[in-house]
Amino acid sequence: MKILLGVTGGIAAYKSLELTRLCIKAGHEVQVVMTAGAKEFIQPLSFQALSGHPVRDSLFDANQEAGMGHIELARWADQIVIAPASAETLAKLRLGRADDLLTTVCLATDRPIMLAPAMNRLMWSNQATQENVELLKQRGFTLLQPDSGEQACGEVGEGRMPEPQSIFEALQELQKRHFENQQAWSKLKELWTGKSLLVTAGPTYEDIDPVRFIGNRSSGKMGFSIADVAAKAGAKVTLIAGPVSLATPSGVERIDVRSAQQMFEVVQTHYAQADCFVGAAAVADFRPAQSQQQKIKKRAGLEQMTLELVKNPDIIAWVAQQDNKPFVVGFAAETENVVDYARSKLKSKHLDMICANQVGENQGFERDDNSLTVITANHQTTFPNSSKFQQAMALLQEAGQKF
Ligand code: CTP
Repeated sequence: MKILLGVTGGIAAYKSLELTRLCIKAGHEVQVVMTAGAKEFIQPLSFQALSGHPVRDSLFDANQEAGMGHIELARWADQIVIAPASAETLAKLRLGRADDLLTTVCLATDRPIMLAPAMNRLMWSNQATQENVELLKQRGFTLLQPDSGEQACGEVGEGRMPEPQSIFEALQELQKRHFENQQAWSKLKELWTGKSLLVTAGPTYEDIDPVRFIGNRSSGKMGFSIADVAAKAGAKVTLIAGPVSLATPSGVERIDVRSAQQMFEVVQTHYAQADCFVGAAAVADFRPAQSQQQKIKKRAGLEQMTLELVKNPDIIAWVAQQDNKPFVVGFAAETENVVDYARSKLKSKHLDMICANQVGENQGFERDDNSLTVITANHQTTFPNSSKFQQAMALLQEAGQKF
């Protein structure tokens, strides 16, 4: 593997010599990029001797291909690791700055990037740094947890760079995961390129009057992740979204609706063009018999009110009954007897596949992670708890294989 090692300014920079040695010993190729700060702590020549390559440090290098060393380096690397990663580097990466070779390479790459932060304990625990760390994790950077102990500045606490051996092991692990991920994507692309997917997502709001409605706690994240993954896998995706505050995944056609009835109408005009329909929306089963035109006022002496509800159409069951139906995948959000209830919904609604998940206290709704059991008439498989994006990948692989 080709490893680009970024070294930034910090006393721990000397430990990265050992990291270089470990990587070379394991048969990897290493090129080192140093920041100006790093060179205050350690001589580039030491890295050159260990890696067998001159250290790169200049954004504008006339000796490199067309003077664009950052692009050439970004293409060269299979993986980037920055060790030590200073507080300043984390801040620059968060902002997407590109004012030196290392940050520019990080901006110009789609390869996995691992960061091994090292800094004074107060700099590490500072809210600014912690917010940078969180955001970088969300963007897909792998952040190693700094070690605790005595620091170069004489203080004791969290902020020491992890030992080279643990960084090296984490790098190997990341590479393995990256490889598996790439395999999963090529499989997904094989299954979904050119296919058409219709997805419903989020809750529906059933209006009582102009200011009140019946809704539910669905965030829409699962359905949006499914749309996102399918589009990235090359499918033509139409996403019918209930009221949610989520950004439209790129390459996805989005149609916003509010009520179950509106969702039903849009599904009716779109299902026939789809190869697969995924009903991830938490559709309200009932709506107020009448939605009042004016705000309902409380009258003096009124102690009780009754709201009359009528049944909404079952959208997914309707799709599953059509002659030219697509492959139909439902969801069953349950608080108990998850698999049993899901199985009976699979049968009663004539679905091809159903994804069961447990909802309730700290599970399912409004969260970024989830655990799913995918059930068909003769097969059942459970994906362990992971992000909804990962679950969407696994689910689309199952569904894609089935149809
Ligand atoms: N669904 C639908 N239209 C409805 C209700 C549900 O299309 N009016 C779909 C959901 O998008 C989901 C599946 O049906 O894919 C299961 O929904 P759920 O609300 O859990 O099932 P219900 O049949 O409503 O059963 P219950 O509320 O009793 O659990």
